[in-house]
Amino acid sequence: MRRRIPLLVAAVFLVPLVTGCEGPVGPEGPAGAVGAQGPAGPQGPTGPVGPTGQDATQTCTQCHTNNTVLFVKQVQYEKSTHRLGGNFERATTSCAPCHTHQGFLERIATGATRTAADVLDPAPINCRTCHQIHTTYTNADYALTVSGPNDMIFNPTHGPQNLGEIGNLCSQCHQGRSLSPTPVPGGADVTITSSRYGYHHGPQTQVIAGVGAFPFGADTGPMAHGKASVNTDLCGTCHMGEAYGEQAGGHTWKMSYEYHGSDRPNVAGCEICHSSVDDFDYNGVQTDFEALLEELRVELVRIGVKRTGDNFYAQQGTYPADVAAAFVNFQMFAEDRSKGIHNPGFALGVLQASVDKMKTY
Ligand code: HEC
Ligand code: HEC
Ligand code: HEC
Ligand code: HEC
Ligand code: HEC
Ligand code: HEC
Repeated sequence: MRRRIPLLVAAVFLVPLVTGCEGPVGPEGPAGAVGAQGPAGPQGPTGPVGPTGQDATQTCTQCHTNNTVLFVKQVQYEKSTHRLGGNFERATTSCAPCHTHQGFLERIATGATRTAADVLDPAPINCRTCHQIHTTYTNADYALTVSGPNDMIFNPTHGPQNLGEIGNLCSQCHQGRSLSPTPVPGGADVTITSSRYGYHHGPQTQVIAGVGAFPFGADTGPMAHGKASVNTDLCGTCHMGEAYGEQAGGHTWKMSYEYHGSDRPNVAGCEICHSSVDDFDYNGVQTDFEALLEELRVELVRIGVKRTGDNFYAQQGTYPADVAAAFVNFQMFAEDRSKGIHNPGFALGVLQASVDKMKTY
């Protein structure tokens, strides 16, 4: 049987023929509503593991917590001469290595006795000078900035000195500077051209190590106070003993405090070894020291190498080598300022020998 095209289909084909003449295009209708969001695509592959991040609360709080460890050190340090001495403006190339924070770190890095340039905006000695603050941002940053024996670069023949962990730090700055010229006792006359002849301030390391003096036969070398094998904290044992508030000990580095209007020695450090010490004039050593230093001063003024008065100034001129050497001894023990305590036998022995020698001039 032949199929017939249904009537409706036939009509659709016929419509264009009927509507062949087009009318004008009507206005665009309104935009349709936004369609519904499609379903989420499949999850991508897992990315590689990133580096472990630092948990700030864990490392920073090793130091910055609500305990008072850091705060107490700040309070003590604020009263120290390292903070208040005021001499950190001595920031030119030859002074900056000991008097400024920046100069010190530079000199430790380069091993030179001077900085490459004057230090601008100098900072006083502070936490970061002695500790490695904010290096790893952990408690390990309290490690000291200096380790190992001191090469004594300002006077290489006086070293190296191993004064233990703390002494090796302090001694980097608390050492005398070079002599110019260096007398050879019994040798040629010496011409002194500067009133500042001598080792400069702070020759504590020479004294405690028992070097740098012209002994005229006296014994030299360290005793218990300067031997790291006996006195492991060395400078720290006496200067950083139990703190007396913010006046002495700890991070004030001071040896005395004021109590009801009078000066009191902080013997906390001494007591570790001497059970019966009440003041620093232990066994009269400081009394003997001051008497000998005064005797030597009088001799040196009489000979003319030392200016009159209570100072450390030399009188420029040409002198026998022994006289220049005795002046250096005088200046070194006076500027050490422990009145013999840093190395009692060495101080008393060399001063006595110097006095005896000067009496022959
Ligand atoms: C080793 C201990 C130590 C750790 C760990 C440590 N700090 Fe400090 N922070 C210090 C000391 C010390 C100072 C200086 C205090 C002063 O100068 O009196 C300081 C000072 C600061 C200051 C004051 C501004 C400045 O630089 O003097 C800020 C802020 C600070 N630390 C933030 C942090 C943060 C954040 C972390 C961890 C990412 C951190 N510290 C970890 C010891 C530490
Ligand atoms: C970066 C060099 C430097 C280091 C390191 C250093 N000092 Fe000092 N110290 C100085 C200078 C410089 C002064 C004098 C500051 C001033 O007058 O401005 C001084 C002052 C002092 C004073 C005070 C003297 C006074 O007249 O009151 C004592 C005590 C002292 N230092 C002990 C120490 C001890 C102990 C250490 C080691 C823990 C040490 N110093 C480490 C450079 C240093
Ligand atoms: C090798 C390290 C070192 C160098 C370099 C150095 N000083 Fe000092 N100076 C010290 C120390 C340490 C003290 C503190 C000594 C003390 O208190 O017994 C000090 C103390 C002083 C004082 C204070 C003295 C007082 O009686 O109060 C003056 C001022 C000073 N120095 C000036 C200078 C000048 C200027 C230069 C550069 C020409 C210089 N220093 C270079 C280590 C040094
Ligand atoms: C002149 C050098 C010097 C300066 C400046 C200094 N310290 Fe120290 N500090 C030391 C020495 C030395 C020790 C003893 C280290 C030891 O016993 O191994 C010490 C110990 C500490 C300790 C104990 C660390 C521990 O591991 O137990 C803390 C905390 C500390 N200092 C914080 C400070 C802060 C905070 C400042 C600044 C406000 C500061 N120090 C400035 C030299 C210094
Ligand atoms: C055996 C203990 C002892 C040791 C160790 C010691 N000192 Fe002293 N130091 C003293 C005493 C005590 C005085 C003060 C004497 C006085 O005032 O009558 C003093 C005085 C000083 C002074 C003069 C300023 C002041 O505070 O009177 C400086 C600076 C100094 N010492 C630095 C050092 C340095 C640096 C070292 C390590 C190389 C060191 N000391 C090691 C006991 C010690
Ligand atoms: C680490 C231990 C130790 C500390 C800390 C110490 N001393 Fe000594 N001191 C000794 C020893 C040991 C001797 C004697 C042996 C020697 O001469 O080597 C001595 C000897 C002395 C002498 C010489 C005594 C004499 O009759 O000739 C004096 C003075 C002295 N000490 C004072 C002090 C003072 C003051 C302090 C504190 C500021 C102090 N010492 C801290 C161990 C120490």
